[in-house]
Amino acid sequence: MTTKFMMMMTTNLLLMMMMMMMHATSPHVGVADAFFQGWGRDTSSTDINSRSAGRAVPPPKPAGASSWPAKGENDVYFAHISDFGVNNRNQRKVAKVLGAAAHHYNISAVVTGGDNFYPDGVASLRDPRFRACFEEQYSDTDALFVPWWPSLGDHDVCGNVQAQIDYSKNSERWDMPAPYYMRTLQAGKGGKVVVALLIIETSSLEAYFAPEDQDIENRRFQYKMDKQVTSKEAGARQLAWIKSQASEARRNGAEWIVAVGHKPAITAANRQWRGDGATRELGGRMWYAEAVLVNGQLHDALVDAGVDVMLAGHDHSLQHLESPKSGFTTIISGAAGYGASQRSALNIDPEHESYVYAADLDDGDGGFAIYGVGDDGLFKVMFFDEEGRLLWRATLNRKCSRDEAPPIRHYRCVGERSA
Ligand SMILES: *[C@@H]1O[C@H](CO)[C@@H](O)[C@H](O)[C@H]1NC(C)=O
Repeated sequence: MTTKFMMMMTTNLLLMMMMMMMHATSPHVGVADAFFQGWGRDTSSTDINSRSAGRAVPPPKPAGASSWPAKGENDVYFAHISDFGVNNRNQRKVAKVLGAAAHHYNISAVVTGGDNFYPDGVASLRDPRFRACFEEQYSDTDALFVPWWPSLGDHDVCGNVQAQIDYSKNSERWDMPAPYYMRTLQAGKGGKVVVALLIIETSSLEAYFAPEDQDIENRRFQYKMDKQVTSKEAGARQLAWIKSQASEARRNGAEWIVAVGHKPAITAANRQWRGDGATRELGGRMWYAEAVLVNGQLHDALVDAGVDVMLAGHDHSLQHLESPKSGFTTIISGAAGYGASQRSALNIDPEHESYVYAADLDDGDGGFAIYGVGDDGLFKVMFFDEEGRLLWRATLNRKCSRDEAPPIRHYRCVGERSA
């Protein structure tokens, strides 16, 4: 078996068996085939066998790759992109570099922070966006034929959510069994360091957290959102699920419990420029509440549930943030396609302690994050831009926190701006 990941969904045994069978034709043992090099090859087939062949030629390394940290011996890496499904020049540039970095770090999975397909998700299983915004972007290299664990963004839930779920059956790597679900990665020697990934759906949580006096009917996109997936009731059910999954994962010895979703628990972005209207500042400059969500309640719920880190998107930037009240880390990688913009990080207050890092991106720039976990149990964070330059490196250490009295500021033990 070449698989480093383990499926833990008991409700999903069939999919698990399919994934294991697929790994018999593992992308990592693909046969070199000169015809499949480079951009623009035909990816129309979703047949598992034909797609597994011929991607062994490593993608060219970008100039920036000389500064990439070496891969750690027993480290397991995974990539994080969001707000990508737009099929533009920026997405293609970021995808190329992502492929090279995925190869360099031999990543085990890709998680997405949603907005997989703009502007309204997909319409059906036959939607050409599956090809244009996913297959044709990320098929340059074997290294990207690993499990993809997508979350749903607010654009995705405006379309056919079931079609994104059903696409898992057509794809050897797209693995979305439900609007929210759990996956695990095992790192270090013998796979002893477990990373539990709770892939969450933030539009229903937003509905759930909406205060009584805020009419959910008025939120952005509500009129076209999938009502079942994004309702208050769905949010309540999901929150209970998050709590039980997180505590079970911790009981089972997970070192890291990571939530992956679209709208961030904390952000430095200022969305007022867009006229979203409802931006409010609660609890300090780092907090915003786009529409009705994040006035601290998502943060509080994740902290209460014992989640260590949230990986998010929505804001088209790269940000590494710590909550001033809890030390909780939120990492935003939302610049893999759609109009990366510095305006998404306007609200940064350099005097604010919780500000850690935000990339200085202009329109047309982009980037992504790669994380690594190894024997030492540390959670390594790396941001790359669309030229492959390493922008930021940091190391999160859960153990830093354990002996400290509040106020807890702990996760970022080491951080270093690289470019
Ligand atoms: C990459 O990871 C796979 C397991 O997912 C492993 O079988 C393979 O040997 C690794 N390749 C390299 C070059 O480290």
